[in-house]
Amino acid sequence: MGEVDSAFIQAIEHRPKLAIVEAEGIPLIDLSALNSPESSNSSAISRLVAQIGEACKNWGFFQVINHGVPFERQQNMELASRKFFAQSTEEKRKVRRDEINPTGYYDTEHTKNVRDWKEVFDLTVENPTVMPASHEPDDKELTKWINRWPDYPPELREAFEEYTEELKKLSYKLVELISLSLGLPAKRLNDFFKDQTSFIRLNHYPPCPIPHLALGVGRHKDAGALTILGQDDVGGLEVKRKTDGEWIRVRLTPDAFIINVGDIIQVWSNEKYESVEHRVMVNSQRERFSIPFFLNPGHHVMVEPLEELTDEQNPAKYKAYNWGKFFATRKRSNFKKLGVENIQIHHFKIAE
Ligand code: OGA
Ligand code: NI
Repeated sequence: MGEVDSAFIQAIEHRPKLAIVEAEGIPLIDLSALNSPESSNSSAISRLVAQIGEACKNWGFFQVINHGVPFERQQNMELASRKFFAQSTEEKRKVRRDEINPTGYYDTEHTKNVRDWKEVFDLTVENPTVMPASHEPDDKELTKWINRWPDYPPELREAFEEYTEELKKLSYKLVELISLSLGLPAKRLNDFFKDQTSFIRLNHYPPCPIPHLALGVGRHKDAGALTILGQDDVGGLEVKRKTDGEWIRVRLTPDAFIINVGDIIQVWSNEKYESVEHRVMVNSQRERFSIPFFLNPGHHVMVEPLEELTDEQNPAKYKAYNWGKFFATRKRSNFKKLGVENIQIHHFKIAE
């Protein structure tokens, strides 16, 4: 491999520790109560809602099992992803992301201006997805993001569409449980996801000769509402524990999805649930594949603390912001190393 590009090197304080702390505490939640015929069984559902609420409050992360996504669909998606990434860079670049159409393949993502040790292929859940044409606040023009399908593997498109259908269903189930856990009606949040700008990312983390200096993804919080992550059996995701700020490795659980609260739920809940920092460690031996589904609202949605969750004692902690413009701004800065801090929700925070 020779010299490694210095763009990958993390500042000393952000380098991973090679001694791994595995979490006992990240909750594992069994969703079977939702899928069983007795799903009208209200005590089982209330227990589930309480578990989800605790997990969102204490960790911002949890894993779910018996989530109802057929194993075969998950497996087909992962196999198609492996085949896609196994191609030459030249082939992959035929569906490369550019500044006009930010979906597609790319291998130069920067998180907080340090390059990530990974390559990705992004596909939107709604095809096409309506978005603002630019990040400029006064530009009202809209555009359509259209998925581009690679020639190989030919089954990728169908695998993606079948997987997406299931993940959408799971995301609504989770959003409804979260809504209930906030004391709101189950469907209170659903309308925000009309014309959603959600996307699925195929992540490939190649083996890395300098796993102590670089990260697969640098520390970050997810900007959307909720993330549902499927991963293979390699592991590497680390979560910053809320109680002490320690980086904790998420345990590998067969057939589980890893769920985390994104920034939008932090704002909607007026910080009852916080979006938690996480990062991905790479290793020198094995490549890793993961597939996050980022649940995002429609571009027109103004994100702000929900009225029902604020009052005089607990005033709104954020000003409203437009999701489409926020997302477009973030996409732009992830594409190019701009040398400035990414847009973040704390820019909309109301001083206390
Ligand atoms: C992300 C992310 C985690 C992983 O893409 O935002 O946090 O394990 N990925 O790939
Ligand atoms: Ni993330």
